[in-house]
Amino acid sequence: MEDYAKSHVLLEEADAFARFRLSDGRYEHTLRVADTAEDLALAHDLDADRARLAALLHDAAREIEPEGFLELADKWRLQVGDPERQSPKLLHGPVAAELARRELGIDDEEVLAAIRAHTTGRPGMGPLALVLYVADKIEPARDYPSVGRLRTLARENLHGAALESLRRAIAHNEGRGKATHPGSRETLDWLESDGATQSGIEQ
Ligand SMILES: [Fe+2]
Ligand SMILES: [Fe+2]
Repeated sequence: MEDYAKSHVLLEEADAFARFRLSDGRYEHTLRVADTAEDLALAHDLDADRARLAALLHDAAREIEPEGFLELADKWRLQVGDPERQSPKLLHGPVAAELARRELGIDDEEVLAAIRAHTTGRPGMGPLALVLYVADKIEPARDYPSVGRLRTLARENLHGAALESLRRAIAHNEGRGKATHPGSRETLDWLESDGATQSGIEQ
């Protein structure tokens, strides 16, 4: 099968997978993130199909029960720290990436890494992961004071938009008395450092 046709079959399978596993509301969010991710990918000369694929699957594990996350993480030997034990839904990205690999046969490591990193971010995350991280925060139904500015920024500067989104997420959590996940803190440090620029991501 041609690559083009193959990737479209995969997109249809991923869509059906998300539809089957998610409530109407979360599936609709998923479709909005997929459209936003595709749009951002095109704006930054990235592969729109891979961005859409990662987006369609990013929340596919989101409706698993807390014990279910821990059981799957244990079975699949995923990394589980204290924050994940306290709030197992933090594992929905890593678990969704495993489901994508095991159930849909997805072996595109950048797609899987983007799915894995979409909740807390990850130091060294690549352009596709940045697209998904930002798309999840700015999809059209998101409504918070700085979202308009972030939407504009995201089309011009992906790295800057990810940095702003992460700063906002951390401030939002801290405002509600919630601890910052160490992974988010490390990602923030990474985005603020020169390392992110040197890896070829535009400032
Ligand atoms: Fe999510
Ligand atoms: Fe999401």
